[in-house]
Amino acid sequence: MTPNLTVVILAAGLGTRMKSQRAKVLHQAGGDTLLNHVIRAALHVAPAERIVVVVGHQAEEVRRSVTAPAIRFVEQKEQKGTGHAMLCARELAASADEHLLILNGDGPLLTAGTLKALLEAATAPGLCGALVTTEVADPAGYGRIVRDHRGTIAAIVEQKAASPEQLRIREINTGVYCFDARLFWEHLGQLTPDNPAREYYLTDMVEVLRRHGHRVAPLLIADETELLGINTRVELAAADKILRQRKTNELMLSGVTIEYPDTVTIDVDVEIGQDSLVESNVQLRGRTRIGANCRIGTGSVLRDCVVGDRVTVLPYVVAESSSVGAQASVGPFARLRMNAEAAEQTHIGNFVELKKTKLGAGAKASHLAYLGDATIGPETNIGAGTITCNFDGRKKHQTHIGEKVFVGSNSTLVAPLEIADGAYIAAGSVITKNVEPDALAIGRAYQVDKPGWARRRRNSQETR
Ligand code: UD1
Ligand code: CA
Repeated sequence: MTPNLTVVILAAGLGTRMKSQRAKVLHQAGGDTLLNHVIRAALHVAPAERIVVVVGHQAEEVRRSVTAPAIRFVEQKEQKGTGHAMLCARELAASADEHLLILNGDGPLLTAGTLKALLEAATAPGLCGALVTTEVADPAGYGRIVRDHRGTIAAIVEQKAASPEQLRIREINTGVYCFDARLFWEHLGQLTPDNPAREYYLTDMVEVLRRHGHRVAPLLIADETELLGINTRVELAAADKILRQRKTNELMLSGVTIEYPDTVTIDVDVEIGQDSLVESNVQLRGRTRIGANCRIGTGSVLRDCVVGDRVTVLPYVVAESSSVGAQASVGPFARLRMNAEAAEQTHIGNFVELKKTKLGAGAKASHLAYLGDATIGPETNIGAGTITCNFDGRKKHQTHIGEKVFVGSNSTLVAPLEIADGAYIAAGSVITKNVEPDALAIGRAYQVDKPGWARRRRNSQETR
């Protein structure tokens, strides 16, 4: 944390080039919004109370999308440019702090390392600020850095206002600035919309300050990928790829094996323990947390799930907002959803679906079952083809199954229903009444045998 630092993040624009109904900063890359990525970087150098976000387009949605608590917001009602956004932020952001960090809300790849380097560069003697620049092969659309003979910045010239000669400059403004706060706020009022777009350009502050004898230096960063500003969905996809690659690299360096890392999709907030193995084409989304020594089989998609240690997730498991305890085994082709909770050492086999269901420790549902709105005790065995009939067409009902129950194959359990500890359900039963502890329940027609019937039938067919 840098003491005496205020951060302003500009996030009011619509982002016309996204061709979207949604504000640009709400679009996602690497499993989070562009804005949340920028905030994440800012939180490395300043506490949340010192971060102000300028919102405008879909202000309410943008506010709600911010996950970090204690961030403050200011509204820019009309988007009259990045300089105008700062004028709107003035009241909330101008303080006794020494330094002012300004970030574009559409630069999600920015790292804490670069921010720290910028803060250091900006506070060098003789300067009133610094900004991050980089050199790109195709500078189209960016503000160009015009350097003076001393190597500080003479001006930033926006695309629309640049001369043919300036358009050839490949050093660009990345939208990451640090100023002496007092000087910045003192001179901000001197910005004018004196350009082809009739906007107040924040970038003109370099010239404004210069007129008063204050110099701003460029901090040239070689890795341009970090500084990509997102204006189109093509750039969004490029940023997504980089963020995902950073995430898989970070996980692998922390002791997770990832087979074919280019094929997996792992969101920024996902955690995975040591010596876990992630196979190809896996998606780990949202706030998913996976323990140590797990295997996540190919094609599995987990969102907001908690997985204990030494769990085997076989291929093609789809799970949302659910948890699986240590040493459990799930899949292949299993589905868990809406707070399904499988305790430790449970076994959930192929084509089993759990919805709002708790499976006790060591319980098994090995094949082809639907278990919805149910609690199932420890060490109970759910036979193949078991269905909890939880819905009567109007309402959902609960099924409670005790511990060490044996539910025979193809049982139909009509809820509301309680099956007590140690009970045994005959295969093929339709169970509509509660079952006592240790009882056998048979809910099916008894078998009728007719000796010789089949032979007689065969013979009668032969004579025809
Ligand atoms: C801006 C810079 C350009 C730089 C580029 C880097 C200016 C004038 N130009 O251009 O030099 O190379 O970023 O990506 O600043 N915003 C507001 N209010 C507004 C307008 C914009 O909050 O009235 C926000 C946007 O939501 C966005 C950020 O400011 O997050 C940048 O705006 P954008 O329109 O993308 O600026 P660029 O044209 O890319
Ligand atoms: Ca931009």
